[in-house]
Amino acid sequence: MFISSERLKDLPTVKTERLVLRPMELADCEKVVEWRNKDRIFKMSYQSEPFTLEKQREWFLQTRDSRVDYILTVDGIPIGSFAFKPFDWDLGRSAEQSRYIGEDWALGKGYVKEASKAWTKLGFDLGLDVIFAVCRSDNGATNHINKINGFKELWRERRNGHKWIIWCLKRSDYDLHNTGEGR
Ligand SMILES: CC(C)(COP(=O)(O)OP(=O)(O)OC[C@H]1O[C@@H](n2cnc3c(N)ncnc32)[C@H](O)[C@@H]1OP(=O)(O)O)[C@@H](O)C(=O)NCCC(=O)NCCS
Repeated sequence: MFISSERLKDLPTVKTERLVLRPMELADCEKVVEWRNKDRIFKMSYQSEPFTLEKQREWFLQTRDSRVDYILTVDGIPIGSFAFKPFDWDLGRSAEQSRYIGEDWALGKGYVKEASKAWTKLGFDLGLDVIFAVCRSDNGATNHINKINGFKELWRERRNGHKWIIWCLKRSDYDLHNTGEGR
C-alpha cells in the first residue's frame, strides 16, 4: 500500500524557514534531467541509463498517480528534488524516500537537513506508516541526515558493486522521536 489516490491528487506545498517544497511539474523535467545526469547524483542512485528529456517527460506523465515528486526551492529558484515511491513490505502504507541537491551552489548550506525534517512530516501527514531510504554506505551526508531524523538502520546489502544501507522510520518511532519538539 502507498499513499491514497485522493491524497496524491491534492498534494500541498510545504514551507520551512528558508525553503519551499512544491509538487513537481512537467516543466521541471529539463532541470531534473540536467541534475540527475550529474555524476555526483547519478552514482548515488541505482540507475544504470543516462536520463533523457523525452523519457523523463514520458515517465513523469505516466507516474503521477503512483509516486510523489517535489521540487525544493530557495527564493523561488529550483535547487533539487525530494520523492516518495512505493516500497511494499506489507507493513501498512510504506514508501521509499529519495532526495538530492541539483544545483552545486546550494550544497552544504543545511538545505537538505532543513527540508528533510519537513519531508518526513509530510510523509506521515500523507498517511504513511513507514518510510524507507536506500543509501550507499559511503554517502556520509545523507546517512547522517537519516540518523538525525530518527531513521534506524535495518540491514546492509551489496548492489552494483557497492554497499547500501536500508534505513527505516516507523510512524510510532517518529512520534516518539518528535515528542516535545512541538510537532
Ligand atoms: C546527500 C546530499 C543530498 C546532501 O546535501 P547537503 O547540501 O550536503 O546537505 P546539508 O547541507 O543539508 O546537510 C549535510 C549534513 O551532513 C553532514 N555531512 C556532510 N558530509 C558528511 C560526511 N561525509 N559524513 C557525515 N556527515 C556529513 C554535514 O555536516 C551536515 O550535517 P550537520 O549540519 O549536522 O553538520 C547531497 O550531497 C546530494 O545531493 N548528493 C547526491 C545525491 C544523493 O546522494 N542523494 C541521497 C541518496 S540516498
